[in-house]
Amino acid sequence: MRQRPQFVFCHTRGRMTHFDLILKNGRCVLPWGVETADVGVRDGKIAAIGDLRTSEAAETIDCAHLHVMPGLTDPHVHLRDPGDPAVETMETGTRAAVLGGITAVFDMPNTAPSITSKAQLDWKRGYAAEHSWCDIGFYVGAGKSNIPDLAALELEPNVCAVKVFAGSSTGDLLVEDDASLEAVMRSGRRRIAYHSEDEYRLQERKPLYAAGGPHRLHAEWRDVECAFLGTRRLMALARKTGRPAHILHVSTEEELGYLRDFRDVASVEVLLNHLTQYGPEAYDRLGGYAVMNPPIRDKRHMEAAWRAIADGTVDTIGSDHAPHSREAKERPWPATAAGLTGVQTLVPMMLDHVSAGRLSLSRLADLLAAGPARIYGSVGKGRLAAGYDADFTLVDMGAVRTIEESWIASPCGWTPFAGHVCHGWPVATVVRGKAVMREDTVLGAPAGRPVPFAETHRV
Ligand code: DOR
Repeated sequence: MRQRPQFVFCHTRGRMTHFDLILKNGRCVLPWGVETADVGVRDGKIAAIGDLRTSEAAETIDCAHLHVMPGLTDPHVHLRDPGDPAVETMETGTRAAVLGGITAVFDMPNTAPSITSKAQLDWKRGYAAEHSWCDIGFYVGAGKSNIPDLAALELEPNVCAVKVFAGSSTGDLLVEDDASLEAVMRSGRRRIAYHSEDEYRLQERKPLYAAGGPHRLHAEWRDVECAFLGTRRLMALARKTGRPAHILHVSTEEELGYLRDFRDVASVEVLLNHLTQYGPEAYDRLGGYAVMNPPIRDKRHMEAAWRAIADGTVDTIGSDHAPHSREAKERPWPATAAGLTGVQTLVPMMLDHVSAGRLSLSRLADLLAAGPARIYGSVGKGRLAAGYDADFTLVDMGAVRTIEESWIASPCGWTPFAGHVCHGWPVATVVRGKAVMREDTVLGAPAGRPVPFAETHRV
């Protein structure tokens, strides 16, 4: 018999309290540990955690066999809107998110066109109000031509960060030279998110691979030194300017070791893909469906990423959800489009890693809820605690389920994890007190809101 905690925090004493929603009797992944409790929701916020047997609610969800996690954020998605609706839209990408147990996403700016101006950001914020199933934050892209605008752009509401592509990838965003990178860093003060690969080394090495060959050459072209050199350059500039940096998708053992000495200026993201797949096996099995930037590397790097999860080097995990058409993924390398879908499979796959004993549910909540809130400064998110947004990911750790492409909501229709058997599955997604997904069914209409961030939040 599990012990139920006796404490209860309610606004009304001595009378029957009423909630909009009660999550009953779940194993709650609280910031201070995992406890069996009820969670009461009122007006979209967590109003009580404890024993609510004597309380009433308009809706009750029986969580007796479930874990109640704080709403999980995917801080790294490319929703491709505006772009090619046959591949992805904001509506389909956020539908995928809530089907996969994600309550908020932070969306990258390398759309077509890229989001680099206030006018484009305004458009996207307005558009999101009608097209997003989950809450959503926005990156603004840095380019050499908009450096003078970045100070104002980073202080626009709902901007999670300025994103810098210091090495080229999909789209036209690129700031590769030290003088421009330093100017970007000196433009403002919030933490900047970087795609860290050294552009000069990428371009130097490109002709060596012009003749093409097997997909595994992707990791030789964009080699360990491309990423490591990119990160060393960024760290030198971050220290020089004092500007905080978030290094996205850190993919090498070398960078993970190095970044431990830069915790004063640097935070660290790793990707599910780099924790799960390794070369040459992934390239031989998946061909173009293993190609991404920075590349999937050999097992040594995957093992280092797990050690960095265990010792706290890693602050957040992202999916780097980056859909492309099947046609673009099946082009012979090096013409293969780089990027893998992932927002819908991030939570199931991470739960499977939990079941395999690679991390705890508490650490997962730290990486996908508290971590993004701490690094980007989102307000009211990332913590299963009274007064915070009533965002929850309900998880059945006893479920055993195979990832199937027929389940994928993104119109491109593929996942590199097809056929993977997951032990643990997200069975419901609750955003600000409203269930938006239960048992594979998306409920209601898109009602996601832009995420507020502390630096720009007006009360
Ligand atoms: O593989 C990638 N794909 N890496 C990136 O940095 C961008 C992304 C995309 O947008 O396709």
